[in-house]
Amino acid sequence: MYENIYIRYNIVQKVTDKRKGDAFTIDTFNQSVEKKFDTQSYWIDSMPLTCFPKLESNIHVDVAIVGGGLCGITTAVLLKQAGIDVCVIEAKTVAQRTTGHTSAKITSQHNLIYNTLISNFGMEKARQYAEANQAAIEKIKRLINKYNIDCDFSPQNAYVYTENENNITKLEKEVEAALKLGLPAHFTTQMYLPFSPKGGMCFTGQAQFHPRKYVVGLAKTLDHPNAIFEKTRVLDISEGTPHTLITENGKVTANQVIVTSHFPFINRNGLYFIKMHTERSYIIGLHTKQPRIQGMYISADNPTRSFRIQRTSEGDMVMLGGESHRTGNGKSTFPHYAALEHYAKILYKDPRILYRWSTQDCIPLDNVPYIGHYSDNTETLYVGTGFKKWGMTSATVAAMIISDLILKKENPWVDVFNSSRATPKASATQFVMQGAAVTANYVTRALTLPTKHVEDISYGEGKIVTHEGEKVGIYKDNEGKLHAVSPICTHMGCQLKWNDAEKSWDCSCHGSRFTYQGDVIESPTVKALETYDIEL
Ligand code: FES
Repeated sequence: MYENIYIRYNIVQKVTDKRKGDAFTIDTFNQSVEKKFDTQSYWIDSMPLTCFPKLESNIHVDVAIVGGGLCGITTAVLLKQAGIDVCVIEAKTVAQRTTGHTSAKITSQHNLIYNTLISNFGMEKARQYAEANQAAIEKIKRLINKYNIDCDFSPQNAYVYTENENNITKLEKEVEAALKLGLPAHFTTQMYLPFSPKGGMCFTGQAQFHPRKYVVGLAKTLDHPNAIFEKTRVLDISEGTPHTLITENGKVTANQVIVTSHFPFINRNGLYFIKMHTERSYIIGLHTKQPRIQGMYISADNPTRSFRIQRTSEGDMVMLGGESHRTGNGKSTFPHYAALEHYAKILYKDPRILYRWSTQDCIPLDNVPYIGHYSDNTETLYVGTGFKKWGMTSATVAAMIISDLILKKENPWVDVFNSSRATPKASATQFVMQGAAVTANYVTRALTLPTKHVEDISYGEGKIVTHEGEKVGIYKDNEGKLHAVSPICTHMGCQLKWNDAEKSWDCSCHGSRFTYQGDVIESPTVKALETYDIEL
């Protein structure tokens, strides 16, 4: 189940641990040796991937949902409960991508947000945000109970903590703001971590679970033969009703369409590529014999650190997260894992690292998700995106709002999440042109390169080389085989960067990611990279 990745450590990396205020060198980086390095999400490793059918023919449904993560599947369940004929179309498998790589905290506590929300949006809309996220916790509980889903659900308090005296006032103000909005907040100095923070804000009555057990449990309630199609990537959605969804395998026509595929891939409307950026962050899972953490934690300090416990068959596993950065930015991604591991060694005498995985989040301009109509002029096309790093409640909020819109029911939270609330000043015309034509077919070309271009690429390393004015992205695997792609993003043409920890080509413009063989890992692109057969 693991992706085995071999890293050649041939650089000295300096990582600053701001908690200790000192810079340290990770000794192991100063060795030119190969070492096995695994990345695998615990959520994926602990539960087999689902096996719903591929779309093989043309079908018609009332509502089509693009994306089989928590948002898409919850929306499908809510619509099905109302008797709507609905189908979910997923490019990979259910709950495999974003939902399969989260930290799975079910909370309305989204770090320090409420004080800023009140200032930026006013009291009424800030209250909508707070109430919607609290309601999402209750909705998740009700769905688990209704369908009897065994998903390691566990009530927990959620804390934002600080180790910096200067941040205490900020936390106190946040508690004040949260209380004004009716949230279950209080200031505390009593926390259950392997160190003693200076203070924290506690939200009671929050929860955690195993996100894949929950979403797959929900998916199984959609017991209709056309309810879920996997390994079927939607390439385009026509305008006008009914919409036609073009996939790699067939067409779906639908009276209404909901896009929940993480970063929305239709560029003609909505301008999400202007309104959002993406960030990657990292999690390690470790065992320790030291006392158990109680609660879910995130720091208000820099660098951000996050903690929670997950019960596994081998005992409690500490999930330690952090190290966010914009997708495709920075030189090497591997030091982010190293920084978390180093921090674990500061905190615990006996950390045994079991898992390492990373995730990608869409960050909206104003920090509030975009939920509702895809744009002002798309009456029957909807979107749920921009959940930042709080996808468990935000995706559930999106499912509740969008299903209410489709069912023509009043929803008290639509205004704050209105996806058309910001109209970007930039003209969209130039982007429409670039986003119009899509195809998922590979194009492979033969290319002859001088040997010197690949001699200085180490085993396990990826690099962009330029030959006769043409850029080629080359990954040399552990057997020395070369995998060459065009390093130009198929979304809107930005140059890709090599991600050494995940062995992928990443785009810093809007977060598209590709395997070293050119396959799409993350939207908004839906088109694979051009590949090359290299001759030296
Ligand atoms: Fe938009 Fe790459 S993701 S250009």
